[in-house]
Amino acid sequence: MEPRLVILSRGPELYSTRRLATEAEKTGWIVDIVDPLALTIVVDEEGGRVFHKGWPVQCEAVLPRIGYSITRRGVAIVRQFEQMGVIVLNSSQGIIRSRDKLVACQMMAERRVPVPITAHVGAWEDTDRAVRRVGGTPCVVKSTEGTHGSGVFLINSFQQARQLVYQMLERGMRPLVQEYIEESHGSDVRALVVGGEVVASMRRKAHGSEFRSNFHLGGSVSKVELTDEQKEIAVTATETLGLELAGVDMLESQRGPLVLEVNSSPGLEGIESSTRINVAAKVAERITSIYESLPNLETLADDLDVGVGSERSQGTS
Ligand SMILES: Nc1ncnc2c1ncn2[C@@H]1O[C@H](COP(=O)(O)OP(=O)(O)O)[C@@H](O)[C@H]1O
Ligand SMILES: [Mg+2]
Repeated sequence: MEPRLVILSRGPELYSTRRLATEAEKTGWIVDIVDPLALTIVVDEEGGRVFHKGWPVQCEAVLPRIGYSITRRGVAIVRQFEQMGVIVLNSSQGIIRSRDKLVACQMMAERRVPVPITAHVGAWEDTDRAVRRVGGTPCVVKSTEGTHGSGVFLINSFQQARQLVYQMLERGMRPLVQEYIEESHGSDVRALVVGGEVVASMRRKAHGSEFRSNFHLGGSVSKVELTDEQKEIAVTATETLGLELAGVDMLESQRGPLVLEVNSSPGLEGIESSTRINVAAKVAERITSIYESLPNLETLADDLDVGVGSERSQGTS
């Protein structure tokens, strides 16, 4: 029987979701795209299960595409699938770590993955000292939990930095003060890592005078060949956070590549269009190879002449 893959996504029509579903189907998976917010977790003395419209969700693998705004709820679903022994790409832990810029930075620095000098300021009165520690102004102030460039600011004076840090703390955000890598000129490189290998890479360039290269802010993309050093750093960063699939963003500084961010649900549109590489197929192949490397419970059960589980697959819709 064909194995089942559940793609957790709120946008079945999104480019990345569609591409992943298509390629997984081509590799022999029965694919269901399910809105994570439509799922219910029930935990009882037998462990826990996930239900969709009253039916238990039975699948061999899960591919989470959890948006930032629903990280906590989405991660709870992913964790439940992990506990049920389902293959997940990426793990709940990996997603959580990658969504917190401070945690990611700490973990990478510990493994000697180069990152920009970064300070987490606990009290606004400490802002000036933090700015000096990261090399003075201009510097970057960002929220630990932002995305699409929305919480990232280029700061030109100590007063501006103090004000912004104060406002962020007031709103319960955790501000980071970071060294500004001016020489990267509004451009960075993204390595798409799947199963411990860089499968595609692109350069992202900021639009006009903007310093943030995010696609959502009008940034443009083009194909780029990475150096061996950049590839190695991207793979180590991905492993450090415990991810199978990641988009690793690196700035090119005078002292070499610096990892800015590791995205656990990287978009595929920009990278597939600029490189013409079938990244979705690489992801599907990776899930298949993990699935095939697991001991086959059904043949094992046949050999032992016992049944497997008590419930048959109900699908998810
Ligand atoms: N320290 C920095 N030096 C230079 N450019 C930066 C720095 N931090 C962020 N940027 C620019 O801003 C963009 C968004 O920053 P990032 O930390 O990735 O936040 P987000 O999660 O919102 O994408 C980056 O892609 C990069 O172009
Ligand atoms: Mg980013």
